[in-house]
Amino acid sequence: MIDRIPLILDVDTGIDDALALALAVHTPAAELIAVTTLAGNVGVERTTANTLAVLDWLGATDVPVHRGASRPLARAPRDAAYFHDVDGLGGAKLPSSRRGVGADRGPAAIVRLASARPGELTLVCVGPLTNLAIALNVEPALPTLLRELVVMGGAFNVPGNVTPHAEFNIFADPDAAAQVLSTAFTRLTVVGLDVTQETALPRSVWEAAGSMGTAHPTARLVAEVCRQAFVERGLASVYLHDPLAVAAALAPSLLLVEETAVEVLREGTEEGATRASGAGSVRVAHGVDAERFLQLFTETLSLSGSTKGSL
Ligand code: RIB
Ligand code: CA
Repeated sequence: MIDRIPLILDVDTGIDDALALALAVHTPAAELIAVTTLAGNVGVERTTANTLAVLDWLGATDVPVHRGASRPLARAPRDAAYFHDVDGLGGAKLPSSRRGVGADRGPAAIVRLASARPGELTLVCVGPLTNLAIALNVEPALPTLLRELVVMGGAFNVPGNVTPHAEFNIFADPDAAAQVLSTAFTRLTVVGLDVTQETALPRSVWEAAGSMGTAHPTARLVAEVCRQAFVERGLASVYLHDPLAVAAALAPSLLLVEETAVEVLREGTEEGATRASGAGSVRVAHGVDAERFLQLFTETLSLSGSTKGSL
């Protein structure tokens, strides 16, 4: 029996967050313990409802969802509805979940679960880092209670995607990002645009997913959440930012990393920028085996009609 990797996902569901949830649910090596939500791409009520709907659609009705931060630590909310649509799922219409959220809020759930299984859990953050910053505030031991932290965020040697300098998850809450990325976690891997923009779902795979019919709910999820991007925006591909962060937790050999300290700029025109700033232990990804990742992604989600791959 393989040792499964227990994961908590912290999400702002969103189109690529939904794909990341699908990857975590369908990867045999992953044990999705819980999902925490927060405001990011859209408001927290929407990201929470989307997360519940996606997990239920995938049959993962046993995975608890804990609602988290409704706004950044200290700044006005900034969303990404311009890309994810106001509903946060690119216009996809999924049945609303009939189940509720867990009793404790996102940050409290992260602290409770990590404290109950010290040294075992991997936390993958694919939205702003507000929940984690709050959790760190209430439990300073969290960095050593977690086995690993993987963050989708930042842009180190490429332009940002919100401003020329800043990537969205960092820009949405730079104060939280500065706290998290300057904390000494047991193992912290940062998966930024430098590598996530090397990984994208091609139109051909999207078209194949759309032709697989109702017997393949995961393929339908991919087809529906990406439809607006491919049809109305005419994109050639959709970046797989958040799924790559999940894959980095499950198959770290996909990435090439350099260890460094990371600085987050919090003021001025470069607000939200991330920089390598000298000696440190943050594992910043600068290379990715994009072909192997896309193959694992499509096979794990059974999008290519081929046999199941596994991370
Ligand atoms: O910059 C990409 C990140 O911002 C992804 O997590 C996407 O979901 C958005 O939140
Ligand atoms: Ca996200």
